[in-house]
Amino acid sequence: MSVKLSRKSLGKVNLVLNVLGRREDGFHELETLMVPVGVADELSIELGGAGIELSCSRSELPTDRGNLVYRAAEVFCHRAGLTEGVRIHLEKRMPLEAGMGGGSSNAATTLLLMNQLFGGALGTEVLRELAEGLGSDVPFFLGSGPGVARGRGERVEEVDSFGCLEGVGVFLVHPGFGVSTPWAYKQLVHFPQLLNGRSGRVDEMVEAMRSGGMRRVGELLYNALEEPVLNKYPLLMLFQEFLRGRDSLGVLMSGSGSTTFSLWGSIDEAREAEAAFRAEFGEGNGAGVGELGREAQSGKR
Ligand code: C5P
Repeated sequence: MSVKLSRKSLGKVNLVLNVLGRREDGFHELETLMVPVGVADELSIELGGAGIELSCSRSELPTDRGNLVYRAAEVFCHRAGLTEGVRIHLEKRMPLEAGMGGGSSNAATTLLLMNQLFGGALGTEVLRELAEGLGSDVPFFLGSGPGVARGRGERVEEVDSFGCLEGVGVFLVHPGFGVSTPWAYKQLVHFPQLLNGRSGRVDEMVEAMRSGGMRRVGELLYNALEEPVLNKYPLLMLFQEFLRGRDSLGVLMSGSGSTTFSLWGSIDEAREAEAAFRAEFGEGNGAGVGELGREAQSGKR
């Protein structure tokens, strides 16, 4: 009987997402600081069947090339010269089109699981190259800690959070609808100052993590895509006001939305915020509570 390997596929939030202009290739030049969060999908993989067989707990998601998991497995097999069949199952828990990097994380996790299944067939550099071809955020998810990403997001450097994120709780709010990433970036033409941000915000955030503490981190949270998305969906503004009113360390939309994250002094405080939020807005909203940074991996929740 073949072994079945499983691995969590974590989400992320962007503490800083600064856009530095539009590039000739149609993408946007970025400096962003991403941090893993312990709200995660689960992927499992085993040898068997013919070709790549993908199943998914959410029926609205494609299980063919339209799914980044399938494409990641395909490019891996192609590059490693493999013809064996693999069965992959994706247990989806993160919301879709949420700005949490779910699809990108799933793709990176697939590459890592495939490499484990096939005894380290590909080296780190090749995995990174394959990840880059799959999407701007995919290389970040090959790592396990906070990272600064530049270029279109594919040039990643791990950063130390200097223990600053330890014990911090995050409560993520998802409004029940998604936001298209290409749409959000396109809106920036109407916001020239956000489209051409001043560089250096990421360095300031890293410095705050090193010596300023979480209150300072909260003050420096920044996302250039937030204003265009909040303009279209004022409900998100209402959610944010509620969270700010409860003495959160910081509140910001993640990535291109629609998720807003809020930071709290402890996981218990994050849970209290979740309970208060659900009492106010109903059970239908919310994407859960988790830990931030490297602690997200342990998934103590
Ligand atoms: O690279 P990925 O496929 O994840 O990007 C999805 C979309 O997000 C792109 O097609 C583009 O519209 C937008 N994007 C961008 N600039 C970036 C990253 C993404 O405009 N740096």
